[in-house]
Amino acid sequence: MNTNLSFCPPSDVATGLLVVFAVDAAPKAAARPEVRLLARDDAPVKAAQSILDTGEFKAESCETLLLHNPAGLQAKRLLVVGLGKAAKLTPHEVRKAAATAARFAKPRALREIAIAVPIGDALDPKLTVRALTEGALLGDFDSDTYRSDRKDRSVQTVQVVAPASSDRATAEAALREGVIVAESQNFARALINEPGNRLTPTILGQRAAEMCRTFGIQCQVHGTEKMRELEMGAFLSVTQGSDEPPALIVMTYEPKGAPASPVLGLVGKGITFDTGGISIKPSDNMEKMKYDMAGGAAMIGAMRAIAQLQPAVKVIGIVCAAENMPSGKAQKPGDVQIAMPAPGKPGKAIEIINTDAEGRLVLADGITYAKQLGATHLIDAATLTGAVAVALGQLNAGIFANDEDSYHRFTQGLNVSGEHFWRLPLDDDYRDVIKSSIADIKNTGGRYGGAINAAMFLREFAEDTPWLHLDIAATAWIDDPKPWSASGPTGVAVRSIIEWIRSF
Ligand code: BES
Ligand code: MN
Ligand code: ZN
Repeated sequence: MNTNLSFCPPSDVATGLLVVFAVDAAPKAAARPEVRLLARDDAPVKAAQSILDTGEFKAESCETLLLHNPAGLQAKRLLVVGLGKAAKLTPHEVRKAAATAARFAKPRALREIAIAVPIGDALDPKLTVRALTEGALLGDFDSDTYRSDRKDRSVQTVQVVAPASSDRATAEAALREGVIVAESQNFARALINEPGNRLTPTILGQRAAEMCRTFGIQCQVHGTEKMRELEMGAFLSVTQGSDEPPALIVMTYEPKGAPASPVLGLVGKGITFDTGGISIKPSDNMEKMKYDMAGGAAMIGAMRAIAQLQPAVKVIGIVCAAENMPSGKAQKPGDVQIAMPAPGKPGKAIEIINTDAEGRLVLADGITYAKQLGATHLIDAATLTGAVAVALGQLNAGIFANDEDSYHRFTQGLNVSGEHFWRLPLDDDYRDVIKSSIADIKNTGGRYGGAINAAMFLREFAEDTPWLHLDIAATAWIDDPKPWSASGPTGVAVRSIIEWIRSF
């Protein structure tokens, strides 16, 4: 998709589809909505006036109203998209509405659209242009990659029509950032969407390396041999049941003149297919487990954006990629595995209770390795537990933190990313649930608080290093499409991780 910026009045834009946004400005208790178009000239208002007067369009969030041959406009069509209540307006609402516009255009094969930047007291101009741009690109994504009759109806050009009064440099920068961030999120979504037979750990490693080459950052993809050398007993135990070799992907962004500290370590779960192993999963919905590498993909997407946004901080992205399979060589419940040792300490002994709790095993060694490579601040992302869906539903992803400063940086970033994360606890007293009688710890903690148990397991490896853990199992995939999003991979966490990195 091409994007460009213009500053002419919306009424002068010759386009197949001109998009303007509207809010409901009625006071709280009012019986009727009071629809107000956030366009800077009167022409779209006049064109839509008679239909707005009927009251059938209420400017609800992502509600749409289409007019053909709007009077007084150069555009062939005018699309009004609702932003909901004026009092609750945020740039994220603009992101969703712009995505709705792109998804509206696609099936109608409208290849060139123009979107008028809304103006409002609650809307910071830079964040609004950025969110609008992101929305247009994110809305363009579809997951039907392998349909033989797939008609690619992607929107080819989006013209972002900014107010004439805008600061041009700021608007240009916002557009560019929006493009980088959304393309990187879509890049992650495309990886997540790939089925297990077409995205093995090896292929994921190749894709990451290719991306790094394109954007000029370092990448190494290690195999079993290096993992043995590093004594990654936890990660290796998951890979041993599969004929597909694992990949330990290490991406490094080190800008000239970056301070020696902090060094940010991103660790992603890259299980390209999770059968559960010997503790095999039921076959219902097992096909979904191709997205068990969504955390890893989020890290690759975030690195892709960082390579272009060039913040002045060193970032190391690690993806632990493997398949979790049952076989004659697979690990068994009851086995004891020794995780990668930290400097001067023996590796932690882990009793495997359930081979389906494999994500925490690969991440354990990924976290230790990130620290060994110099990471001073850690963040991991993983489709780690079904239990996080029970706890939080599909709207909020889970976040765990052992450090308030790092957590605060992350939550500040949510105002920009518009994503939803809810914090879950990590009290010391929970530690009892992962005590083992034969080893240091075990890899599951019983029926209750499953997302917390998994996080407590990871905490053993993060130790005192500031660390955030994102459990995105319930939010990485949606089965039903939304007005602003295709069904399938969401690319959750990419935007928030980018903001967290930029906060340093
Ligand atoms: N990949 C799954 C978690 C998952 C479930 C992701 C649903 C996406 C959707 C993970 O490896 C897993 O199997 N977790 C187990 C842990 C249990 C054995 C302690 C789970 O959640 O059931
Ligand atoms: Mn599993
Ligand atoms: Zn898994």
